[in-house]
Amino acid sequence: MCGIVSYIGKKDPVPILIKGLRRLEYRGYDSAGLALLDGKSLNSVKKAGKVSELSDELSVSPIKGNCGIAHTRWATHGVPNDINAHPHLDKSGKIALVHNGIIENYDSIKKTLEKRGVVFSSDTDSEVLVQLISEIYHNDEGQLDFKDAVKAALQEVVGAYGIVAMCSDEPDSLFAARMGSPLVLGVGDNEFLFASDASPIIEYTRNVIYLDDGEFVEVKNSAYSISNIHTEEIVSKTITKIDLTIEEIEKGEFPHFMLKEIHDQKHSISDTLRGRLNLEDGTSMLGGINDYLPNILEASRIYITACGTSWHAGLIGKHLIEEYARVPVHVEYASEFRYRNAIIDANTILIAISQSGETADTLAAIKKSKELGALTLGICNVVGSSISRETDAGIFTHAGPEIGVASTKAFTAQVTVLIMLALKIGRKKGVSLHRGKELISSLKEIDTNVSKTLETIKLVRQVAKATCNADNYLYLGRGVNFPVALEGALKLKEISYIHAEGYPAAEMKHGPIALIDKDMPVVFLAPQDETFLKILSNIEEVKARGGIIITVTDEENDSLNSLSDYVLVTPKSHRYIFPITSSIILQLLAYELAQFRGCEIDQPRNLAKSVTVE
Ligand code: G6P
Repeated sequence: MCGIVSYIGKKDPVPILIKGLRRLEYRGYDSAGLALLDGKSLNSVKKAGKVSELSDELSVSPIKGNCGIAHTRWATHGVPNDINAHPHLDKSGKIALVHNGIIENYDSIKKTLEKRGVVFSSDTDSEVLVQLISEIYHNDEGQLDFKDAVKAALQEVVGAYGIVAMCSDEPDSLFAARMGSPLVLGVGDNEFLFASDASPIIEYTRNVIYLDDGEFVEVKNSAYSISNIHTEEIVSKTITKIDLTIEEIEKGEFPHFMLKEIHDQKHSISDTLRGRLNLEDGTSMLGGINDYLPNILEASRIYITACGTSWHAGLIGKHLIEEYARVPVHVEYASEFRYRNAIIDANTILIAISQSGETADTLAAIKKSKELGALTLGICNVVGSSISRETDAGIFTHAGPEIGVASTKAFTAQVTVLIMLALKIGRKKGVSLHRGKELISSLKEIDTNVSKTLETIKLVRQVAKATCNADNYLYLGRGVNFPVALEGALKLKEISYIHAEGYPAAEMKHGPIALIDKDMPVVFLAPQDETFLKILSNIEEVKARGGIIITVTDEENDSLNSLSDYVLVTPKSHRYIFPITSSIILQLLAYELAQFRGCEIDQPRNLAKSVTVE
């Protein structure tokens, strides 16, 4: 939520900051702004709307400087307008700050500052921080330098922040700090960048430092020093080399990142599997959790916690782990789990699933579980992310950078990891070699099956064209495919703004059936498994009420064909592969529907990809 980028070095900061903001736009796109220091003068430009609006404004009224800070906003406090856009300046106009996170005690600080005569221009919590820094800096009778004033202000705030600040009294310096919101320092050749993730940095340097909570960085005269926010203690950090490529973070020939990422699944699932399958032993090899396998095997319960799409992957994980490993699994929204008195002890395993590895609630749930003695495992896509570092051990999904706000390839990679994890534990607990080999063999065919699944695009487009004016959509599935129904409905809501619900197919009779009429498209997940005949009955029930029936199956069948308005077929495979291939069809359907409705696919309204506020 909110992206920040800043640059200090010999180059013109403006194009670097604008390009960086575009890369971070997935984090929020309500407004954008930048501030530059030109010697001792500070100039800023801020615009409601997307980075392109800011860029247009800068081409009409350019500003220049030798270092700068920039921000793309996802609004929390205050509507998205020019004034609430970052950077925020203090009352003297000497200090500028960009902030990602929430200052929870902003109201009380604001009231105190107002009593002292500070006049606020915005409604944001972030302006409170810059005005507080200013008060401390200007009222200390020369006792504190700017760095100490920033640190002193940070002692007073409660909440989450990633900040970068600059001051016209310190023309060749940037000051940054992290508490709860991600911040990466890029260490180049006489140039430095701060950013919310590494994507704005990679063109200039591959050397990065992932800051941890409680760390403060001062970059001055081509050198950096990292210290504890609360003390003078210097913190020594290792430089990490990042191997992200520019191609991975650009959409290439595709009109949208989402479509590119849907197609990336031709290889992203096998990238996640690479080097991890052992057909001979019918198991998987997950180096990241090997040391903890004895604890995992002895666990009395597993909690899976996550948000959004990752939570849906967790629901599929429950089916898999209970099926193979025979240990009870509870799947919880991180935002609920962290506040309830769940039974967590040393025999508990917490699996946190997160694409970004930065989701605030998921991170908080991990910290709480650790305190209560649980072993915490992460399933993350972003190497170096907070969750990957906070958990005791974990398994990376190797889906590659996901930029479209609606998650696609990260979801299928998460399910893939959960299949491998369930099998790994299961084989240790007595699942037969035959069952293991069966699943591994199906995983090995995944690329071909995904490619064939993507061939349904033309028919999916027809379905979308015929139903794009629907106000509601219903998704129904049973067992392991119920979470797929939830995920299909979420994708549709996110990018096409059609109201959609996912339901267990049989539960439809207990409510949603009342909604069905001739205008209601109903998507059935109907693989040929032991529930097939039951699903067929559910389809009959919808048919009898005139609903539009869209069936996703893994084998054509006369009854299905005659009952359905559209039948979308994925290749026949293992029953636990169907959730992957069928969700790809539902991703395509959401994409095509959003296209027909003229929606902003990669940046849907009100959403952000990385939710770093609670
Ligand atoms: C946001 C995104 C979703 C994502 C969820 C959890 O809502 O828009 O796509 O599933 O956060 O994010 P995470 O990075 O933890 O998987």
